Amino acid sequence: MTIKPIRKAVFPVAGLGTRFLPATKAMPKEMLTVVDKPLIQYAVEEALEAGIEQIIFVTGRGKGALEDHFDISFELETTMRARGKSLSVIENIRQQPGSPVYVRQQEPLGLGHAVWCAREIVGDEPFAVLLPDELMVGTPNFMAQMVAAYNEVGGNVIGALEVAPEDTDKYGIISPGARDGALTEVAALVEKPAKGSAPSNLMIPGRYILQPEVMRILDAKETGAGGEIQLTDAMAKLIGKQPFHGFTFNGERFDCGDKTGFIMANLALALDRADIGPAVRAFAKARVG
Ligand code: G1P
Repeated sequence: MTIKPIRKAVFPVAGLGTRFLPATKAMPKEMLTVVDKPLIQYAVEEALEAGIEQIIFVTGRGKGALEDHFDISFELETTMRARGKSLSVIENIRQQPGSPVYVRQQEPLGLGHAVWCAREIVGDEPFAVLLPDELMVGTPNFMAQMVAAYNEVGGNVIGALEVAPEDTDKYGIISPGARDGALTEVAALVEKPAKGSAPSNLMIPGRYILQPEVMRILDAKETGAGGEIQLTDAMAKLIGKQPFHGFTFNGERFDCGDKTGFIMANLALALDRADIGPAVRAFAKARVG
C-alpha cells in the first residue's frame, strides 16, 4: 500500500452561524475572534503547520470578509508601513498568489455536500477536512499529530475524542474496534444518534484525513440525519473497504460552535498569553472569588 501525502485541506465555511446571532448577521462566524485571531486563522495555521500546501474554502454568500482576511490589505499595510509599525502580525496570513482556492456551496445541504463541492479541486488524492469552529490547542497540533499517524497506517484517519455521554446526540459517533495507543479501529459510524442509542462516547471532532473515494460516495447525494447530506454517512460506507482509524488527540478541544465553548476558549487562551494573561487572571480571580 502506498501512502500518498496529504497536500490539500478543505475548510467548510458556508454555514450561517445562527447560534451566534446577532454577531454573525453581517459577519462570517469563522471570523469570530478568540483573543485577537479569527477562528478560521487558527484552523488554517493548524493545516499549514501540519505540512498541508493547498487551502480550499467551501464558502457561500456573505463570506467576503474571509477572502479579504487572507489577501493583501493594501490600505492597512501602506498606513502601518508609513507609521513605522511592524507588519509581522499580518504578514504571514496572506497566502501565496492563487491560494486559497474558493468554491461555493450554493445551498446549505449538509457537511457531506459542502465537502463534495470541493471535489474538482481535491481530485484523486487523499485530503484533510478541518471544521474551524472546533478550536484545537496542542503541540504538535491536532492535524500534525493526525498526519503523523496517517503516514503510518494510511487509509482514512478521523479525530476521536471522548465526550460526556449526554452530549453524544450532538455529534458524529464512532463505534470503536481494537485500540492501539492513540489509534482506534473504526467499526461503524453514526451521525447524531438519538439519546441513549450511541454506540460509544467517542465523537468526531471536526478533523478528518480522507481518501478521495469518499467523493464518489457523496456523488449519490443521499440524505441522513436532519435531512442533510452527511459526511459521516459517506465515510461509514468506506469501512471494511479501506483502513479506517480514529485518532485521539493529545491536547485540548474547544467547541467554538457553542457560546459556552467559545467563551472558554477566549478565557483559556487569554490566560496563556504573556501580554494579557496576568491582568485577565487577576480580574477573573477577583470576579469569581
Ligand atoms: C458536524 C459533523 C459531526 C461532528 C461535528 C463536530 O456536525 O456532522 O459528525 O461530530 O461537526 O463539531 P455539526 O456541528 O455541523 O452539526
